[in-house]
Amino acid sequence: MEAAVTVWHIPLSQKPTADDHALLDATERRRAERFLREEDRQRYVRAHAAMRRILAQASGWRPDELVFVTGEYGKPALAGGSPCFNLSHSGDHAVLATSFEAEIGIDIEARATDTLRIAKLVLAEGEMEAFLAQPADARDAAFLRAWTRKEALLKALGCGLVLDPRSVEVGLGNEPSTPELAGQKWTLRDFALVPGLQPSPFSFTRPDRNTASSPHEPGVLDWQLGASGWPQSILVGSLAANKKISPVDIRSGAIG
Ligand SMILES: CC(C)(COP(=O)(O)OP(=O)(O)OC[C@H]1O[C@@H](n2cnc3c(N)ncnc32)[C@H](O)[C@@H]1OP(=O)(O)O)[C@@H](O)C(=O)NCCC(=O)NCCS
Repeated sequence: MEAAVTVWHIPLSQKPTADDHALLDATERRRAERFLREEDRQRYVRAHAAMRRILAQASGWRPDELVFVTGEYGKPALAGGSPCFNLSHSGDHAVLATSFEAEIGIDIEARATDTLRIAKLVLAEGEMEAFLAQPADARDAAFLRAWTRKEALLKALGCGLVLDPRSVEVGLGNEPSTPELAGQKWTLRDFALVPGLQPSPFSFTRPDRNTASSPHEPGVLDWQLGASGWPQSILVGSLAANKKISPVDIRSGAIG
């Protein structure tokens, strides 16, 4: 049976409201206070307030009533256990994945920097060979595909980077592999977040056409970086689940 997964886009550019602040618990407030940069603090508060509203809607509790527990390596979960969720931030954007049927992890990244150096640290041997075989202007995109898949998978497992990312093979071609880890077969799904494309902030591109397709259609990310550089607005993402997943339901809009 396929598991249903919803991915929520949470824009973080606006300042948090008093209502946002009021939703956070003491632990979240303490974490918010520890940020050195005010904009990071504000993004954290926005993301957590939105996360609470979304999880409250899904679970039937009030947003400020939700109680979180954390796993051995810090993965948050609802004390009641359901739905499973995972959050990822990058710059002015966050995404939250929720599912009642699968354990999930999600990651988004705004752009690749210093790709070759980081690739050596995180890619498995075969992946590194495939990376080096890419034309120079396709390497950043290929690296980000592999990196977001790895992070999503490690976040789904709950261990994060405690597990050496080189030990997890996800591939960097258009089709992610279906890794077996911790006795389970994992599904990986790539996506691109294109904030400029409203009302559908997510779009998928297919290898055979370079245009945005239905936001609800699963697809693979396949643009090539040209001399003009990285398309500024695009964030690359990947979702991992411990089950086969049905086409991902992507949602955005006013959260709060
Ligand atoms: C999980 C991890 C890869 C996230 O890295 P990141 O670059 O900050 O990535 P993202 O923005 O995608 O994800 C952050 C979110 O993932 C979630 N998260 C935190 N730890 C997690 C874990 N172990 N597994 C899955 N998700 C986790 C949180 O919701 C977090 O959001 P928050 O900081 O607003 O609460 C990294 O923190 C890690 O490797 N952690 C595990 C090891 C560790 O340092 N643990 C310390 C506590 S024991």
